[in-house]
Amino acid sequence: MGEDSDSRARHVAIIMDGNGRWARQRGLPRAMGHRRGVEAVRNLVRSVKGLGIECLTLYAFSSENWKRPEDEVSDLMQLMRRFIRSDLPEFVANDVRLKIIGDYKALAPDIVEMLENALERTSKGSHVLAVALNYGSQQEIARAATAAAAAGEINAETIAAHLDTADLPPLDLLIRTSGEVRLSNFLLWQCAYAEMIFTEVLWPDFTPDHLRRALDQFSARERRYGGR
Ligand code: FPP
Repeated sequence: MGEDSDSRARHVAIIMDGNGRWARQRGLPRAMGHRRGVEAVRNLVRSVKGLGIECLTLYAFSSENWKRPEDEVSDLMQLMRRFIRSDLPEFVANDVRLKIIGDYKALAPDIVEMLENALERTSKGSHVLAVALNYGSQQEIARAATAAAAAGEINAETIAAHLDTADLPPLDLLIRTSGEVRLSNFLLWQCAYAEMIFTEVLWPDFTPDHLRRALDQFSARERRYGGR
């Protein structure tokens, strides 16, 4: 069953949680937890092609994360700049297409420019890395409903067609690390029929092997989409 193409996950999303706790457990500054979190992202992106996933969506910065202390917000933005700068050539070489979901245009102008350049340079890739930046799912749904209304009709299909994820495969699997069991305003609409896996592993410790095991667990589940 695991090899059956119907039972394989095409689109996986991850709420990367636990960077702060990872650092605290080691007596390190929070910034170090985020830095190691980026390493985990890098390793995972390298594994996507081999795992046969079409799209990996990562919750990197939520619209609520602005409430964190200013120095932490600026650390996260700096990590984003460095990540794009250092990993862009690797994305291109590995057939990764970058996509951004969320209101990323509200970020610093140099980051917006860097992201748009990266979107352009990776536009031919066939494995999507969707990064959620300044993302909030309720806000996304409200934007999509407004656009659907402007186009003449509001229903489930027209709203879905205006979501930031409209061009991505349906979400199959949502993973959240660090033992928290909630969605935190992430992909609320897209989770309608997604399977969910909550793991105790803290994000910096999450490896491609953890993802592979989650995919195996997904393939073993029977999805009924409301039928029987
Ligand atoms: C949660 O840990 C993590 C975040 C708020 C940000 C996730 C960001 C990264 C992994 C790095 C940046 C990403 C990219 C793609 C460059 P937390 O601080 O909430 O941890 P805690 O709950 O243990 O305090």
